[in-house]
Amino acid sequence: MNKEGVRMRTRVAVIFGGMSVEHEVSVISALQAIQNMDESRYEIIPVYISKEGAWYTGDTLLDIEEYKNLKGLLAKSQRIQLLREGDNRVIINKEPKPKFGKAYINEIDVAFPIVHGTFAEDGVLQGYLELLGLPYVGCDVVSSSTGMDKVIMKNVYRDSGLPILDYVWFYSTKWNEDQDELVKKVEGKLQYPVIVKPANLGSSVGISKAANVDELEEAVELASQFANKIVIEKMVQNMTEINCSVLGDYEAAEASVCEQVLGNDEILSYEDKYAGGGSKGGGASKGMESTNRIIPADISEEKTKEIQELAVAAFQVLGCSGVSRIDFLIDNDTNNVFINEINTIPGSLSFYLWEPTGKPYKELTNDLIQLALKRTREREQLMFSIDSNLFSLGKLSGGKGSKN
Ligand SMILES: Nc1ncnc2c1ncn2[C@@H]1O[C@H](COP(=O)(O)OP(=O)(O)O)[C@@H](O)[C@H]1O
Ligand SMILES: [Mg+2]
Repeated sequence: MNKEGVRMRTRVAVIFGGMSVEHEVSVISALQAIQNMDESRYEIIPVYISKEGAWYTGDTLLDIEEYKNLKGLLAKSQRIQLLREGDNRVIINKEPKPKFGKAYINEIDVAFPIVHGTFAEDGVLQGYLELLGLPYVGCDVVSSSTGMDKVIMKNVYRDSGLPILDYVWFYSTKWNEDQDELVKKVEGKLQYPVIVKPANLGSSVGISKAANVDELEEAVELASQFANKIVIEKMVQNMTEINCSVLGDYEAAEASVCEQVLGNDEILSYEDKYAGGGSKGGGASKGMESTNRIIPADISEEKTKEIQELAVAAFQVLGCSGVSRIDFLIDNDTNNVFINEINTIPGSLSFYLWEPTGKPYKELTNDLIQLALKRTREREQLMFSIDSNLFSLGKLSGGKGSKN
């Protein structure tokens, strides 16, 4: 604190881990990001969500080696709970509250979620932070949840005139009841081969391709194990995969350089993506960097520009904020570009795309925190309630009147 009682450094709670299949990716991304935050401006507090959903803090959580023994790590960390206190303070308390001594650990100014998948990237965590009244980095509830559900996302993009691949979707329960009708629908609208996906997961979990009706059945069954909403897309057979990151908000957003992802011509598996193909890539600690990629992408300047413009449009139409990565497929036979998906909390925050764009990682994390604080300032200008008590006007005395 300085003389006026104002804290000199903004206190940032970096939230990571989480109850999703991408737990490990989150840990790697968060620890990397923490090492790239400006300590003269920000005081960092690690907040780890275990695979079981319990929240912890403590310096041991900053050491990647400690994650080899999760039980040991949790034993060395402090179980916590975030609480809203008074009008405008969010504090971290010990959990359970100790019988003796202080329960209070720290006050937080802003949360920085670096968590993927279910309960985190999908707007659930964002909703919790909204209820706490805590400013947070990244997309808000609506943009997060829209980005996470491939069906809703496609609906919005299609409605906005953005290019997406033809698709069919249904609930898995409907598949069990009316399989023949759905097969007809898929075959009528798309041609084999198709790609079958659960609507709301990441890391290629549950995704497979199908070249005929038997494979379609298998693929839908696989996807149904992970979600009750299934998306089936036309498969682009001769494709180039391009990713582009966008930083900003609804008012101003910029696109990074593009990267070209080199797959194995097959759908990337979870291991390919995050462990560099298991044994050959040197394990999960290498994380996202070990996926084969070309930066900048080996495509024409014109295509690059087209993709960058589409990326900004895809980001802004959902109302995104912070940094997101938009993934594209180019059909090499027609040269057409399609938006495949948006990742609202990209692995490694896409820092490796911003560095070659001319923005060092420290500047990226600073921009992200400042965007979060900007959104809070803007929202404070909006009216959330009307400062009069309708009950006191005597018009809502029950009966018919209460329905109007
Ligand atoms: N329609 C498609 N045609 C060809 N390949 C696809 C198609 N959709 C997805 N893929 C491949 O599968 C991968 C994972 O699909 P994606 O929709 O990005 O799922 P996730 O959310 O799990 O990352 C993509 O990176 C791409 O390699
Ligand atoms: Mg993807």
